[in-house]
Parts: sequence; structure tokens; C-alpha cells
Amino acid sequence: MATAHPHVDPDGTVYNMGTSFTGNKGPTYNIIKFPPKKTLPDGKVLNSFDQASIVATVPCQWKMRPCYFHAFSMTDNYFILVEQPLGVSVPKFLLYHFSGRALAKAMDWMPNEKVKFHVIRRSDGHLLETKFEADTFFFFHSINAYEEDGQIVIDLCCFDDGAVVNQIWLENITNPTETFNKAIQATPRRFKAPAGTNLVTLPGTKCRSTRDAKGVVQCHSQDLSQDLMEMPRINYRFNGKKYRYGYGFIPTKGLNCGTLCKVDAETERRSSGQKMPNFQVRMVVLDAKTFQQKALVTFKTPGIVTKDFHGFFARDCDEVHRL
Ligand SMILES: [Fe+2]
Repeated sequence: MATAHPHVDPDGTVYNMGTSFTGNKGPTYNIIKFPPKKTLPDGKVLNSFDQASIVATVPCQWKMRPCYFHAFSMTDNYFILVEQPLGVSVPKFLLYHFSGRALAKAMDWMPNEKVKFHVIRRSDGHLLETKFEADTFFFFHSINAYEEDGQIVIDLCCFDDGAVVNQIWLENITNPTETFNKAIQATPRRFKAPAGTNLVTLPGTKCRSTRDAKGVVQCHSQDLSQDLMEMPRINYRFNGKKYRYGYGFIPTKGLNCGTLCKVDAETERRSSGQKMPNFQVRMVVLDAKTFQQKALVTFKTPGIVTKDFHGFFARDCDEVHRL
């Protein structure tokens, strides 16, 4: 399995995280590196997949329930894997695979388990020995992560629990219930994990860390905004680096993606949304400062266009999505 959100270095190297279900010690989470295409002196061309290698491996803590991953975080010097208590039940997964049932039903939410942050040094794939945890939450998307003053800052769009994965059914999207509308509410939250020995104890902030009796560092989050936000994007030039603005949509009734928002991570303020009903079938270019519409593309389709979540835009000369 691989996540839907790989990261790309400025030189074009792609990193993705994938779960392996086989192995002597049980399932593992792996970071896979895909270097850019290169030509050897003899003229032979090696593409990214020819050169792919596993650069880090982390064992799953729940052997029969490796956790569901949709994204991971990367800074200049670290990969961060957030192991959350939504496990993919291996027995159910196999049973449902062969009986043709929905694989989403094979996921088990473990409400009493904490979230674990696995911090891996990029230079040698070494997993930091310090254990980092947080009170339970669920997330699909990482907004960004970066290092500052010996801390690793990790920003995620967090749900209170994993209910959302068993609510995104067509019937609920078409006729949203209160349960559904509650389940899709994600808030941008910031966590700080100390890369060194000093804990995060900045005054006047909820974003701090404490060490429990077992030596585990407990990371206490801070909301980046009091408002909801999902499907986060940033200016990708700042990926892994200190940044200020995150963009997304406000998850409201019926998964209507028609209201965009912008979060200022410095002031924790959210800019007002740009309302664009039915924008799923439009391509709109907005000024990121003002949300003023700069260009609008409309097109006819030969049939129904399904509601989609993800997309990458790249210039036609780009081999990979870089910025
Ligand atoms: Fe996604």
C-alpha cells in the first residue's frame, strides 16, 4: 500500500510511505525513495522505479492491525510517520477482499490507543529512540512540517476520531445526516516534538510537550484556527520549511467543497472563504492574497463528473510535480 500524498524534493526525488504486510517481524511502514530519471555513461536510462529503494522501515505496533495512512510529513532532516489508532484488520481485510465487501469495513477504530509520532532521520534512516505520543485523533492530511529551535513542528488536519471513514458513503453525501456532518469536521492542529532533549515549554501556548513516567514525550496540540479546514495545500516551495499560510476548504454539510479558506499559522486567524458552489466541475485560479478570481475555465463533459478530492497540476514540461 502507498499513500496518496508523496513528497517531492526540489531535485525531483520523490518519497512515499507504504505499508508492507509481509515480513519476518510482521507488518512494517516504509519510506521509499524514487530518484529522478538519469542517463548512465553508456547511454542507458534509469527511470525512477529502476532506482527505487527503501530508506527507512518502522515496525507496526499493532501487528494484526497496521494503521491506515493517507499522508506523512517531511522536513529538511526528518520523516514523520503518524501512527494513528485506525487499524486495518488483517483477517477482515483478507476476508473482505476475497468476498468482495467494502475494505473500509475492515478498519477498526481503537479509541483507547494514543497516536504515535515516529521521527526518522533522513540522513541514515534512523528512527529516533525518543517516543512521541498524543491523545487520540484521526487525520487524512498533513498541512506541512518543519524544524525550528530544536523542535519539529507538525501541522495536521485532525478529526476527533476515525468515524469519518465509515461515513463517507454515497447515501450520506447525497443526504447528509447530523452524524455525517459531525464526522467530517476537521480542524487544523499543530504539534511540536522536541528533536533534542529539551521539551517544548514555551509560555502562553498550548502547544507543548511533557515527559511521562515511562519517558514517553506527550505532545499537546494547539489549534491553528478555531474553524474547520480540510484538503490542505501550501505553497510547495515551503514544504518541510517554516511557512505561514495554509489553504483548504471548510468541510460543511454534505461534503460541499465550495468554500475555500486560508489559515495564517502565525496569527491563528482564518481568512474569509471564497464561496464557489459546484466548483467541482470548474477550474478557478484565485489570487492567494485576496481570493479574487483571476481566471475561470468552464468546460462541457459528455456525462456526469464524479466528485473528486485530489489533483495535481503541473506544467506540460514537468516530469514530476515539484512546486
Ligand atoms: Fe488526500
